[in-house]
Amino acid sequence: MEKKNIDWSSLGFGYTPTDYRWETRWHDGAWEKGGLTTDSTITLSEAACVFHYSQSCFEGLKAYTTRDGHIVTFRPDQNAKRMQDSCRRLEMPVLPVETFLEALDATVKANAAWVPPFGTGATLYIRPLMIGSGPQIGVAPAHEFLFRLFCMPVGSYFKGGVKPISLQVSKYDRAAPRGTGHIKAGLNYAMSLYPTMEAHRAGFAENMYLDPATRTYVEETGGANILFVDQDNNLIVPKSDSILPSVTRRSLVYVGEHYLGLKVIERKVKFSEVKDMKECALCGTAAVLAPVGRIHSDEGDIYLPSGMDKIGEISGKIRETLLKIQSCEIEAPEGWIR
Ligand code: COI
Repeated sequence: MEKKNIDWSSLGFGYTPTDYRWETRWHDGAWEKGGLTTDSTITLSEAACVFHYSQSCFEGLKAYTTRDGHIVTFRPDQNAKRMQDSCRRLEMPVLPVETFLEALDATVKANAAWVPPFGTGATLYIRPLMIGSGPQIGVAPAHEFLFRLFCMPVGSYFKGGVKPISLQVSKYDRAAPRGTGHIKAGLNYAMSLYPTMEAHRAGFAENMYLDPATRTYVEETGGANILFVDQDNNLIVPKSDSILPSVTRRSLVYVGEHYLGLKVIERKVKFSEVKDMKECALCGTAAVLAPVGRIHSDEGDIYLPSGMDKIGEISGKIRETLLKIQSCEIEAPEGWIR
């Protein structure tokens, strides 16, 4: 199989239509068989529930090429299960894990020519989504749904790769207490667009959101979870019911604890403590682990001791170890590699 003629190492994080995507529809109480299609478009009724009431959720995961040329995906069962959680909360039908994995395997295999080669720093980003596709005018769930999974080769999420980024503490809130912050609903991301653009216009890569009820505790950013390393080299994981349970964060934490011998502490983190942290990073499938060098708030700037030039020592080690696990350079815990 010949790879596409792409300058893999200069890819950014953007959409490229690849050759195949996988689709199935739900109606009359059941999923259709589903299969691959070459059509990158979706035709819907003007009254489709997703257009009005944002009945949609999505996932993000990646495929990697190993040194010996195999293509692997990383913990896809975790994404399948998280999508089920999103669907339950959004009154959407649950897609069986096996169907999700069948769609994934078929799409990655059919697009093998688009999977970046080993050592290029690029990966194949996979985007599964589900929408309320049936017509709906009263505020109620759709009666028909569409699941689609497509993929594209991508590079680094943040321009500059692993160069530390700057965050600002947002004056907006990301997710209401007891709301939908813990699921991957499209609407969570829609409401972050205005604050994100505002942050970009002010020269920041992302927003740090605080808990809406008290604006005391750190939650996450618009598109990624947050991690800290404290002065004792403990990995500090902010705890909140409205943070998205990131598969990457869970994996990094496992790597920190079991591969690097770090102590992991998951707890509520006050924003007032951040000035005493040694390192800070964003993490997610797209971002992997992106170091944070500066955090701006009304109280001024916090410069993390790890600086603005390079990734902090602990963050760097966790990131490298996870990347090596993902491309099978070092052995993964059981069930992580497909
Ligand atoms: C991911 O990390 O895969 C996500 O879905 C986050 C998105 C904002 C890029």
